[in-house]
Amino acid sequence: MKVPLSKPYVDQEIKEKVLEVIDSGQYILGSHCKKFEKEFAEFIGTKQAVLTSSGTSAIFLCLKALGVGPGDGILVPSLTAFPTVEPVFHLGAVPIFVDIGDTFTLDLKHVEEILKKGSPGRKVKKIKGMLPVHLYGHPSDMDSLRDLAEQYGLFVLEDCCQAHGARYKGKRVGSMGVAGCFSFYPSKNLTVFGDGGILVTSDETLAETCRMLRDHGRKEKYEHELVGYNLRFNEIQAAVGRVQLQKLDWFNESRRRIARWYGDGLEGTPVTLPRTESWAEPVFHLYVIQTSERDRLAAYLKEKEIQTGIHYPIPNHQQPAVKNGLGPQPELKKTEEAVQRILSLPIYPELEKEKVDFVCGAIREFFKR
Ligand SMILES: Cc1ncc(COP(=O)(O)O)c(C=O)c1O
Repeated sequence: MKVPLSKPYVDQEIKEKVLEVIDSGQYILGSHCKKFEKEFAEFIGTKQAVLTSSGTSAIFLCLKALGVGPGDGILVPSLTAFPTVEPVFHLGAVPIFVDIGDTFTLDLKHVEEILKKGSPGRKVKKIKGMLPVHLYGHPSDMDSLRDLAEQYGLFVLEDCCQAHGARYKGKRVGSMGVAGCFSFYPSKNLTVFGDGGILVTSDETLAETCRMLRDHGRKEKYEHELVGYNLRFNEIQAAVGRVQLQKLDWFNESRRRIARWYGDGLEGTPVTLPRTESWAEPVFHLYVIQTSERDRLAAYLKEKEIQTGIHYPIPNHQQPAVKNGLGPQPELKKTEEAVQRILSLPIYPELEKEKVDFVCGAIREFFKR
């Protein structure tokens, strides 16, 4: 039985929408984009949403519009996709890498320690913001982070690229920081069958600046108030995204159910299961277990045609591009331990119980040998 790591949801309605847009003659930032922005903002609970070409460009636009530049330090977890960090570099700013806590999100104690020390290194003049990542679909502890941010005069920009629809104390992620950034990459909880992203915010000025920067710095066709970029979105993918958004709560409910199946099926095995905080409603973009036998287990599952992944094998503070650019980075103990132990198991909304049982059975067999 082949079990893929992820599989995007597709149905007849989505296919028909794509053909409709092709016939409409309207392809970029048209009516589907406008409606998708409105619907997504409503879903998250913000006043505005701005579609972009990817999650990376959503983060870039927000940081740029927030005035991040050379000498600014940005607190960011090391355990995240490299694209969380790239926009910080592109703006000449400096990522300050933070260790993780028990849910693989920013370790509050470490954040506080860095802020108290207040001398983050010779390349940083001032710590300007934090970029928490709701990794694997589990929210970061936003109240505590926002308290610290307020105390030290920082902005909080949420990386929600793996957490569409997740809730923290009842609030959707993306609605608690100055803005939140989402990716529609094919494996994500909401996808548009290609690259795409969106930023959400209730700061009207920030939204307006991002909207201009995304489209060559203009509001009017031939008047450029800013020097911007082409980081636009398109109608075909917006039409797909709108259908996906209607089903997102169902996708996430299904992912949570699958997580419960894994929890039951793996009980009593030596693997460490993902933890959920009492205040969190996670959306299990990934289902990540931990074991010291990670590589041997992954090889065993591969033999059985069960696909797994490691998110991420190299933490960002140890990436060659980071070490070459910033020099050696301080040790991050929990992050460095985690990357040796983490293994992502198959999860996607339509994954059947039979396949989850098959994966759990294979893991049990592995530990019995
Ligand atoms: C946590 C995180 N941040 C940022 C990104 C970047 O998103 P995109 O691939 O749409 O640029 C991703 C997706 O790869 C991600 O998982």
